[in-house]
Amino acid sequence: MLSSYPAGRSTALPIQDVHPVRSTPRHPVHLSSAATAVCGSAIRDLLSLTSRPDVISLAGGLPAADLMPRERIATAAATALTDPGSIQYGETAGQPRLRAVLAAHETARCGRPVDDVVVTTGSQQALDLVARAVLDPGDAVVVEDPAYVGALQVFQAAGAALYPVPLDEDGMCVDDLERRLRAGLRPRLVHTVSSFHNPRGVTLSPRRRERLAALAEEFGFLVVEDDPYDLLAFDGHPPVPVAAHSDRVVRLGSASKILSPALRVGWLSGPPELTGAVERLKQCADLCTSSLTQTITAELLADTTWFDAHLRHVRAAVTSRALAFTTAVADHLPGVTCSTPTGGMFCWLEFPGLDTTALLPRALEHGVGFVPGGAFAVDGPQPSTVRCCVASHREGVVAEAVRRLADAAT
Ligand SMILES: Cc1ncc(COP(=O)(O)O)c(C=O)c1O
Repeated sequence: MLSSYPAGRSTALPIQDVHPVRSTPRHPVHLSSAATAVCGSAIRDLLSLTSRPDVISLAGGLPAADLMPRERIATAAATALTDPGSIQYGETAGQPRLRAVLAAHETARCGRPVDDVVVTTGSQQALDLVARAVLDPGDAVVVEDPAYVGALQVFQAAGAALYPVPLDEDGMCVDDLERRLRAGLRPRLVHTVSSFHNPRGVTLSPRRRERLAALAEEFGFLVVEDDPYDLLAFDGHPPVPVAAHSDRVVRLGSASKILSPALRVGWLSGPPELTGAVERLKQCADLCTSSLTQTITAELLADTTWFDAHLRHVRAAVTSRALAFTTAVADHLPGVTCSTPTGGMFCWLEFPGLDTTALLPRALEHGVGFVPGGAFAVDGPQPSTVRCCVASHREGVVAEAVRRLADAAT
């Protein structure tokens, strides 16, 4: 027993106390259908390769560390630690102050009262809980193609049948979706990254937003508006949400890209039957999101003068990095098409006739990492495409990354 160890002795178990490895063969561990259905994220696997110090990584969707408000977070954390409530378990739906701040934010964004907000451990958890609350195995879910991989994983785990709808420069091809609905498709959920898409960088047009909301009303599905990038609109005007046009929309938000992903604070708002179910399922998942990081987030978001100035700073920096990227692509990669970002963190490149999965090892040798578009493909193979995160590094580093990519591609 540890308590009988003499004072000063390490509490690590001495080798002879460790139970011997059993010699009889073990029964294999049975894995659930959810566990076997989920494909590992190729992007998360890639992160270990691209994190080599000699590699400039444009692969991960990592918000820039130099733009995160460390000092403001530290001050808010120091204040929070003096409040016993911040180091205690909290309400499952989230801390009242943060929920009030978020409800006011969503009300302003949607132009109608939004008071049902559940705080989650990142918006990834919100996505997972929505799928658990709404889907049974075999249910139809419409996803964009290419898609946010974290959404594909959630829907795979739920045993959903995926129906991909392509994207163009105006976001999800809602006409295509409508055609399929009229032909009999009856999805429970339609998932969209409506603003500054991950991975394509495009934004759903205002007309399509209205149309998607109208289709949700007509056909009875829920739209999951997965919107962690909206406040990173380069012109400072985030698009009007799909949720402004209908309450059949579950809106997901996140502090990850505007403050820091380490806070692990996300949120969702939607119909009350759904938020109630999400709250019960969250009790199973983690009881509550960290009270400490919720207090910090509430403090930062409620300080609107500071927060608005912080957002302006982040937006200006990311705009300039994106411009450095697209300029370098135009200079060094003639013939390669590149999306023109208007917000968010991603550029989408097309290398005509080139297999970008085969290009990746050469690129890593040249000291640059990216994600081949195939990693996001649902149906279409996307063989000659690439997602680059343009937000993580300063302008000079971004331009050097493109030069290395050009060397690797020739
Ligand atoms: C579209 C989208 N949704 C959700 C997430 C998850 O973000 P978080 O869990 O950090 O809020 C991400 C992360 O990159 C994302 O790109």
